[in-house]
Amino acid sequence: MNQAIQEQPVTKVPNHSSYSPGLEGVIAGESALCQVDEGEAGLRYRGYAIGDLAKWSSFEEVAYLLLFGHLPKRTEMEEFSELLVQNRRLPDSVQRFVESVQPGMHPMDVLRTGISLLGLNDPDAQDGSHEANLRKSVRLLSQIPLLIAGSYRVMTGSGPTRPDQTGSFAQHLLQLVAGRKDGDPGVAMAQALNVSLILYAEHEFNASTFAARVTASTLTDLHGAITAAVATLKGPLHGGANEAVASMLVEIGSPDRAESWVREALARKRRVMGFGHRVLRQGDARSAIIQRHAERLSHLCGDNSWYEMASTIHRIMREEKGLHPNLDFYTAVAYLLIGIPRELSTPLFVCSRITGWCAHVMEQQEHNRLIRPRALYTGPAPRTYEPLDRRA
Ligand SMILES: CC(C)(COP(=O)(O)OP(=O)(O)OC[C@H]1O[C@@H](n2cnc3c(N)ncnc32)[C@H](O)[C@@H]1OP(=O)(O)O)[C@@H](O)C(=O)NCCC(=O)NCCS
Repeated sequence: MNQAIQEQPVTKVPNHSSYSPGLEGVIAGESALCQVDEGEAGLRYRGYAIGDLAKWSSFEEVAYLLLFGHLPKRTEMEEFSELLVQNRRLPDSVQRFVESVQPGMHPMDVLRTGISLLGLNDPDAQDGSHEANLRKSVRLLSQIPLLIAGSYRVMTGSGPTRPDQTGSFAQHLLQLVAGRKDGDPGVAMAQALNVSLILYAEHEFNASTFAARVTASTLTDLHGAITAAVATLKGPLHGGANEAVASMLVEIGSPDRAESWVREALARKRRVMGFGHRVLRQGDARSAIIQRHAERLSHLCGDNSWYEMASTIHRIMREEKGLHPNLDFYTAVAYLLIGIPRELSTPLFVCSRITGWCAHVMEQQEHNRLIRPRALYTGPAPRTYEPLDRRA
């Protein structure tokens, strides 16, 4: 074959005027789940202001709202809570995987693999109906905390835990990842965790949710879409930012070093984690809510150092860059005060965002259109193929 093979001409040229790097500002689909409200409410889940949900509701109510479309009545809430408790167990093969993890693995990688394995073992694995997807979503909501806490204990060589099965989702999670917390800080810690789970639950077409929707749009299974979402959330520009903030605060070490640390970071053009947002350029209403809880916890725990460091960084970022903290910034302070291991910060985000992801997968598949955009080609112009033995 010594005849040159020419590239076929491109038949349809994408519209360059609609190109937006990083899809910034692009409306990429419809959703009834979350409204990013630039006004005072900041964010609404299915119409309810995030501030009202954070003030009055439990994470379980919010999970129900996102998955089932309405706030639960008392009997619905009781049934749902009971279902969550019943589903708190892992299939044997997943438990064996949990017991096989090694020190040094990142909990987000373990979680991604574990969720994929849960998909293989799910009793509804072959059923992609809405009802089956709801059952899978509820199971994942109960299983993910067990996967995270169980594997972390194996990695760190600590013994198994038998948490109290009667508490709320936040109390159960707190006990799993940070041990039993009694007295006043314990109650306030569970409240702060409950609020952080509510704030993390949903945020329209963020990168991980969009990854889940792209995956779901091929009509593949729910666990596959969630596996893609977990991989996407891990990055420090997205959900990995809460762990990165905690690491930054640990690196700074004391409030008197915060100012010089952040000024030097900015001078070196480093990104300061927990600041800025692709959509919420004027500030993130969720940040002020979790900030109040972080401040309260620092008083109750008698440890102001993390909060003081964070306040200094906050002030300098506002003065020097005009940037606002996002949800991850003060959440990291609250999680440090609660005693959540740093590497579990992003997995805890998953414990909550699983609700938004699953709701989006179901919404996508109910009104599906394959998500398949175009690329602006920047490669070489058409050229002639030279057979291997003729190439110089
Ligand atoms: C979230 C984020 C990726 C949004 O990025 P984006 O919309 O692409 O914004 P850009 O990267 O274009 O940033 C715009 C400007 O602000 C600066 N900037 C944005 N976030 C910054 C940060 N956290 N620290 C320092 N500078 C920052 C950029 O350097 C850029 O400045 P320039 O125009 O002088 O180059 C970005 O703000 C960031 O990296 N934040 C830190 C990670 C984080 O907290 N992620 C969680 C998001 S919820």
